[in-house]
This record gives sequence, C-alpha cells and structure tokens, in this order.
Amino acid sequence: MHLIETINLSYAYRDNVRALENVNFVAPRNLRIAVIGPNGAGKSTLFRHLNGVIRPQSGQVLVRGEPISKRNLKEVRKFVGVVFQNPDDQIFAPTVEQDIAFGPTNLGLDEATVMHRVDEALGLLDIEYLRHRAPHHLSGGEKKRVAIAGVLAMEPGVLVMDEPTAGLDPRGRDDLVRFVNSLWSRYGITVIFSTHELDLVSRMADYVYVMSQGRILAQGTVPEIFEQEEMLQRIRLDLPVIPKLCRSLRRRGAGIPVVYTLVEAEEVLASALALPPKP
Ligand SMILES: Nc1ncnc2c1ncn2[C@@H]1O[C@H](COP(=O)(O)OP(=O)(O)OP(=O)(O)O)[C@@H](O)[C@H]1O
Ligand SMILES: [Mg+2]
Repeated sequence: MHLIETINLSYAYRDNVRALENVNFVAPRNLRIAVIGPNGAGKSTLFRHLNGVIRPQSGQVLVRGEPISKRNLKEVRKFVGVVFQNPDDQIFAPTVEQDIAFGPTNLGLDEATVMHRVDEALGLLDIEYLRHRAPHHLSGGEKKRVAIAGVLAMEPGVLVMDEPTAGLDPRGRDDLVRFVNSLWSRYGITVIFSTHELDLVSRMADYVYVMSQGRILAQGTVPEIFEQEEMLQRIRLDLPVIPKLCRSLRRRGAGIPVVYTLVEAEEVLASALALPPKP
C-alpha cells in the first residue's frame, strides 16, 4: 500500500480551466519525490488534493489506501502536512510562536508537548529569533520558514512542500536541503515537493514527476528524467548547470559520465585532468 496515491485524478476550476487530467501519482514510503513543471502545469492543484483542501471531481485520492472523506479528514491532515506555495495562505496567528502552536494544539496535545514541538520546529528552521514576532511583518523567506515550522510541528508522516525554496536566499536554500534530507534519513519521513529549480531536484529528490498542462508527461529517477533534455526544454525547464556542462563536454568527445552534484563533478573532472588526489 502506498502512502499517497491518486488514480485518474482530474480537476477543472470553476471557469472551466482544466488543471488536472488523469493524474496517476504515487508516493511510496520514505521516498523524496519532486514534481516539476512550468507555470500552470497543475502542481499546486495536485498538492491541494493531497490533504483534502480540494475534493476530486473525478478519480480518487487515497491516503494509506483510503479515500479522503469527512470521517478521516482530521487524520489525513495530521498525517499529510502541506506547506502551500504562498505562506500568507497558512500563517494567521498574532505571533510566530502561537502560529506554530496552533496545529499541535488542535490535535488536542497538552501544553507542555505543544511547547516542546514549537521549540523543536523553531530550532529545526533556525528561527528561534522570530518567536515573538508578528508573522505578517516578516520577510518572504522568513514567512516561508514559519509556514514550514508550523507543518513540521504536527509531526506529519508525509511532508508536502509547494515551491519550498521560492523566496529563500542561497543560504536559506542550503539549510532547507540539509534539514529536509536529514528529516528523511533520520525519521524516514516521505517528502513531496514542487519546484522549477532543477538543481534542487538533484540535491533533494530520488524520484521525479514531470507535469505539463495538467498531465504527467514523464516520471522516473533523477538521471532518467535529466537524460530527456529536449523534453525538459520543450516545457521550458532547464537542466542544472552541472549535468549540462557534462553533456556538452561529452558532445565534444570528453569521456566523462554525466553527474549531477558539485562534489561528483569535482571528482570526475579531477580524474579526467589527472590531478593528484585532494590533500
Ligand atoms: N483558484 C483558481 N481558479 C481558477 N483557475 C486556477 C486556480 N488556481 C489555478 N488555476 C489554473 O489551473 C491551472 C493549474 O494551476 P496550478 O496553480 O495548479 O499550476 P502550478 O503548476 O502550480 O503553477 P506555478 O508553477 O505557477 O505555481 C492553471 O491554468 C491556473 O491558471
Ligand atoms: Mg504552483
């Protein structure tokens, strides 16, 4: 049984914009899944289905094998934490601390447990200094972190993040990658995120869904998807600079493999240039 599965999910907004068409999406346990696609591809619409914010018009959304219903909605929201694209849709309490406490309090946890979770979430996101601030007066990247902290404080089994790095500075982006990867490896949390930044995919995903015009155009491991450079270009996505460089050097005859991260690239180039080992 998969943690989350959509079966032939289709959705059109009121003005008849077809946002999803027969989407079959599967999130197995303990996998990091990226959903990529250009603006308007349907990523956010798919994510809004995953914890019952919108109901399927046709097809199904199964969470741990069961369709989302009024009866299990509370359980589903506890299990599937969704960080929306726009933090303003998520943040509403007068202070950051109260905002993060809101979800756990609603779960009926006692005050000491709630405070413990708030402390942990503030620590994980490195935003202890924002504790007593008003969320609406924070910068975009700070709000984003507060929104993520609020979802983490619910201790979800699946963490869904819609464009998690939008608005984060490079350091904030690195921190996010590091802490998401450690949540995944340490606690076995399943991670689903959307992005236009393919660099993030190589750093934070095992498996990729490619969406365009409401459909799933392709799916596969990171190398399987990044191999399809023309397909990605057709939908206005660009390969990250490292595999792009490897590919263009290969076209010029270099006998190097295509790799995806800076560390791998350094090794590959050092060996191609016959450099001595790193001191
Ligand atoms: N609330 C809404 N009302 C009407 N149409 C909508 C609404 N939200 C999204 N759409 C439309 O549905 C389609 C899919 O939008 P969606 O927001 O899911 O795409 P996305 O892949 O998340 O895009 P982006 O990368 O810009 O966030 C688009 O054509 C969009 O215009
Ligand atoms: Mg979106």
